Amino acid sequence: MQQRDMERRLVWDLPLRIFHWLLATCVAGSWLTHELGPLWFEWHERIGYLALVLVAFRIAWGFVGPRHARFVSFLRGPRATWSYLRHLRGEGARTAGHNPLGGLAVVAMLGLLLLQAVTGLFANDEIFNNGPLYGYVTDQQSDRLTGLHKTNFNAVLALICLHLAAIAYYQLWKRVDLVRPMWTGRKEASQVAPGEEIDGQSLWLAIVLVGLAAVTLWRVIAAAPVASMSVY
Ligand code: HEM
Ligand code: HEM
Repeated sequence: MQQRDMERRLVWDLPLRIFHWLLATCVAGSWLTHELGPLWFEWHERIGYLALVLVAFRIAWGFVGPRHARFVSFLRGPRATWSYLRHLRGEGARTAGHNPLGGLAVVAMLGLLLLQAVTGLFANDEIFNNGPLYGYVTDQQSDRLTGLHKTNFNAVLALICLHLAAIAYYQLWKRVDLVRPMWTGRKEASQVAPGEEIDGQSLWLAIVLVGLAAVTLWRVIAAAPVASMSVY
């Protein structure tokens, strides 16, 4: 066990890993609760709130989290991204954290999921369910945001497919396992140069950030005017 640990270096902190797997579960859960029908709306709402809190946390973590979680560590300019692409098939493409292309996908996924959850807050199902901020907008505006909530989900799905295809490409063609490190946090030493590993996980900071995001969402929802769909 010790021997195995010595050969692996920590790159993904625990809060980031919990964030990732919870977010994936939330997206699947939001889809499922919609498919199950209007009676499951309460769960669709709850899971959507959790997704929103998670995304808000991850955005903050991108500024104050450990090294490889930070946006500056993986958001590189077009030149670096192009150079990465050119060397994709060679050894030069090795990165300890997200590669420049993966980094772009991360930001796109966070942006689309933020849009998904926020539009949901104003959405309605034309029968009896609506998001908690429905009272702030007119019926027409709510319908438009509902439309966006629906179309945006297709973009979310497309990006997730791309995400999984990229991971499969690494696994099958490049023989690099990215999935296990997303569970354990550790990558093989050959993938992480000495000094590139992270040494702390800032658990308390993560808990405070998640708490702040949850309380803010709760207060926004509690302050919203009460309005519900009229049933004819
Ligand atoms: C709804 C489904 C999913 C969503 C929304 C999603 C989203 C994300 C996000 C936002 C990140 C960036 C992590 C961060 O920096 O915080 C990420 C990374 C990652 N995800 Fe997912 N993910 C999903 C499903 C999966 C599944 C099913 C797997 C495993 C097969 C997976 C494996 C990974 C891996 C390995 C990384 C790290 C990639 C790297 O090394 O650069 N994801 N994912
Ligand atoms: C990331 C989080 C979310 C995801 C992935 C998601 C996903 C979806 C999907 C796939 C649909 C079905 C769209 C269709 O009919 O084609 C839907 C509908 C809906 N969602 Fe969400 N949702 C999320 C968050 C939320 C939140 C936070 C709320 C409100 C609290 C919400 C409220 C609604 C409503 C009212 C509908 C009904 C639209 C209809 O069926 O006509 N969603 N959502």
